[in-house]
Amino acid sequence: MKIVIFGASGLTGHQLLEQGLRQGFEITAFVRDPSKLRIKHKNLNYVVGDVGNKDQVMDAVKGQDAALSALGASTPLKRNFILIEGIRNIVSSMEQQNVKRFVYESFLGVRENRAELGFFVNNIVSVFLKNVIADHEEKERIIRNSALDWTIVRAPKLTNGPYTGKYRIGEHIVSSSLILKVSRADVADLMLRLVRSGEYVRQAPRLLH
Ligand SMILES: NC(=O)c1ccc[n+]([C@@H]2O[C@H](COP(=O)([O-])OP(=O)(O)OC[C@H]3O[C@@H](n4cnc5c(N)ncnc54)[C@H](OP(=O)(O)O)[C@@H]3O)[C@@H](O)[C@H]2O)c1
Repeated sequence: MKIVIFGASGLTGHQLLEQGLRQGFEITAFVRDPSKLRIKHKNLNYVVGDVGNKDQVMDAVKGQDAALSALGASTPLKRNFILIEGIRNIVSSMEQQNVKRFVYESFLGVRENRAELGFFVNNIVSVFLKNVIADHEEKERIIRNSALDWTIVRAPKLTNGPYTGKYRIGEHIVSSSLILKVSRADVADLMLRLVRSGEYVRQAPRLLH
């Protein structure tokens, strides 16, 4: 199965590459700087580009079976409108080229259903990460309004801990822990599983321990 990974040079992106190659995917990494790719593999190639550039995104999407986004802003202190434009470019390129499956890494701090998650997420996290949340909400809206077979994965705080495989998924799951966190390795495991299985199409499950 051929997939393109946007944000492949990032921390979740690296997990997607490593695990995806081990699972036999043929991967195109979309990167601004190929020297950041730490993996070489016969099933890994790359397209150099910025998601704000529609032609470069079109190039990367051509001929793929699915796309994954682990794109992220470099700072939570301000909005990132290039990445919002980037999601618009990915979605429209996929629609134009009939590449249907899109798995997008989001944040569980988005307002929809957030009341279920308790005081800390609703009153502390939501204040400190208001720009990140506003950006993800806008990108989620673009994805939801598309004709794609999308899944939005709403992750809690990400760590660089190991893969555990011990996580739960569901649109309304909650946890009694104060700090909700999961490793990027587990997020990548789920995103690749969703691509393989086609589960949770047009849904936005959370991922929690
Ligand atoms: N941090 C958390 O605790 C947390 C919790 C839940 C959800 N999330 C979300 O999870 C996602 C991934 O987070 P992460 O920490 O794994 O990501 P990350 O390490 O910050 O990586 C972000 C990736 O996006 C790429 N990128 C940024 N702007 C780009 C552009 N204009 N064109 C092309 N590529 C671009 C970066 O490329 P370069 O290498 O070239 O910069 C990098 O590959 C983010 O959306 C984040 O909001 C984070």
